[in-house]
Amino acid sequence: MDNRPIGVFDSGVGGLSVVKEVVRQLPQEDIIYFGDTAHLPYGPKTSQTIKRLVRDNVRFLLKKKVKAIILACHTASAFTLEEIREDNPIPIIGVIGPGAEEALRVTKNRRIGVIGTYGTIRSGAYAKELKRLEPEASVIEKPCPLFVPLVEEGWIEREVTHLVVREYLEPLKEEGIDTLILGCTHYPLLKEEIARVMGGTYLVDSARATVAQMKRILEGKDLLAREGVPRHSFFVSDAPEKFARLGRIFLGKEIEKVEKVNAC
Ligand code: DGL
Repeated sequence: MDNRPIGVFDSGVGGLSVVKEVVRQLPQEDIIYFGDTAHLPYGPKTSQTIKRLVRDNVRFLLKKKVKAIILACHTASAFTLEEIREDNPIPIIGVIGPGAEEALRVTKNRRIGVIGTYGTIRSGAYAKELKRLEPEASVIEKPCPLFVPLVEEGWIEREVTHLVVREYLEPLKEEGIDTLILGCTHYPLLKEEIARVMGGTYLVDSARATVAQMKRILEGKDLLAREGVPRHSFFVSDAPEKFARLGRIFLGKEIEKVEKVNAC
């Protein structure tokens, strides 16, 4: 048993969809969330910048004595997971592996689409992981950079969003994929719009699979928390009010307190 908190890192507010899953699957756990809102978005940044930012911000979580970390940001996971793992002794997981595993579990024709930020797609991290697990898989990737600002604007069911989703995804539909990985924290919020364009294509949201993996790891290492009232603390590097406002959309409930800190 271990009552130290689980750390969740994201470039901003999107990782709250992972927090929602932690609360659902691991209700007794304390959570320390850090959103690097001062440097958002990570999607268009270079790998060097992302590596530096993640390294510095993970240090903040380590100082809070977390027992494990989830890199909830797909772009951060894509570029930094291995390096961050090598440098730190606690369990650290990202969202790419669990998402790829779930896609391979459900696909019938092994034609899998991946959408994400420019960074995530440029890194090729999903394609590499899918091919490593299933060399016969065909992977079709596409960056959808406008989805993040649309979600951050709260424009989930607007005509403009519908048009943008169609513009990005109709060519993917033509590729005959039966599974599409939503490779960005924000895309699950557009699930209905995406489903409307993609028809019966199975949509993979990595959050559930990622937290299930964390649960297995904590169980295996006897690191689960004892029963009790869990504490959830939220830290950001800038604009806490905006984080709290948007956070409601991702978390589905009010966030009472958000603290601004200088992590790096
Ligand atoms: N959290 C990022 C991701 O999942 C999306 C937002 C950003 O670009 O920072 O890739």
